[in-house]
Amino acid sequence: MGLISLAVRDFRNIAEGELAFSPHVNVITGSNGAGKTSVLEALFFLGRAQSFRTTHTANLIREGAHALLVTGKLKDRYDTEIPFGIERDKASARVHMAGKPVRQLSELVAHFPFQLLNPDSHQFLEGGPRHRRRFLDWGVFHVEPSFFPTWQRYSRALRQRNAALRAGAPAQEIRLWDPELIATTEILDQQRRLYIEKLLPVLAGYLGELVDIDGLSWDYRPGWSQKLGYGEALSETLEGDRRQGFTRNGPHRADLVATLEGLPAQERVSRGQQKQIVVALMLAQARVFRQEQGRACLFLIDDLASELDSDHRARVLTQLKEVQAQIFLTAINAADIDTSIWPDQRQFHVEHGQIEEVIY
Ligand SMILES: Nc1ncnc2c1ncn2[C@@H]1O[C@H](COP(=O)(O)OP(=O)(O)O)[C@@H](O)[C@H]1O
Ligand SMILES: [Mg+2]
Repeated sequence: MGLISLAVRDFRNIAEGELAFSPHVNVITGSNGAGKTSVLEALFFLGRAQSFRTTHTANLIREGAHALLVTGKLKDRYDTEIPFGIERDKASARVHMAGKPVRQLSELVAHFPFQLLNPDSHQFLEGGPRHRRRFLDWGVFHVEPSFFPTWQRYSRALRQRNAALRAGAPAQEIRLWDPELIATTEILDQQRRLYIEKLLPVLAGYLGELVDIDGLSWDYRPGWSQKLGYGEALSETLEGDRRQGFTRNGPHRADLVATLEGLPAQERVSRGQQKQIVVALMLAQARVFRQEQGRACLFLIDDLASELDSDHRARVLTQLKEVQAQIFLTAINAADIDTSIWPDQRQFHVEHGQIEEVIY
């Protein structure tokens, strides 16, 4: 189970590289600018056809090259090997899985349950609701197969309603979209609530292990006033929506807010503590994922040493081992990360985009 191998061509500063992975832990070392984050980015790109560093994936193509190619082999839960890959030239991308073109990226994403921890992860508390929604929906998407198709139906209806609002259509025409929005919202909201119910007790355990703060609580906001049903909220806000030209209420505005003694948590905790909270959330998601799916998820962790002090790092590594995820970690020095608790590991050293496996 997990990712067996990765092959990269013309991706960032990597002209060519091949890596065969441990199902447990994989460490990528190298000095600043060597290409460590690029290796994680290649893994992320393979699983999402997106990058966590840029929205312009054409920028991932190595300077001077005309296309990049990232391929990998995954073992599914039945131990079948699935080859897949993405080729991207300056104009477009082609995704293949098991020899066939992939049309819906969600097919790819379902095979690749990645969690990413990097220096931007503090955005989870500090950034806008979008960051927390993305996090929450990662969990719901991976445990509830009907979530994504329902989300697509919702998004289509929302786009149509917004187009009608922008065009200044009469109220009864805008209301035509409401039944579909209401029907899909009921499902999405219910699935998010069920998932949060599973997540919170597990999260409380991890927060106790990893974070030295008491009294953190979590507040799910569905995306409209909770005093009203969604249908009522849509009716009440219709005139305002018409003035603004878009739909202001709905699951596309949901949030999962952390509070501490009644105040937004980000105002009360340090950056380091925010990191610890995010790690606890990711571990909780990994555990719920394992409970629900009976398989492991993958962790991409960029520069853990700069993120956490050595005591918290050791605690995090212990929990990562226990949740049995497949882990990809970067570090400047291998000595910064004690992976001796794992039965086996693989280590790779990157220098000017050249990747060599470290044999020891
Ligand atoms: N499209 C590209 N083509 C060639 N080199 C690139 C490209 N994009 C980024 N780089 C270079 O790749 C190098 C590796 O960056 P990075 O993976 O962030 O290193 P690290 O994480 O090891 O510090 C950097 O020196 C960067 O300038
Ligand atoms: Mg880096």
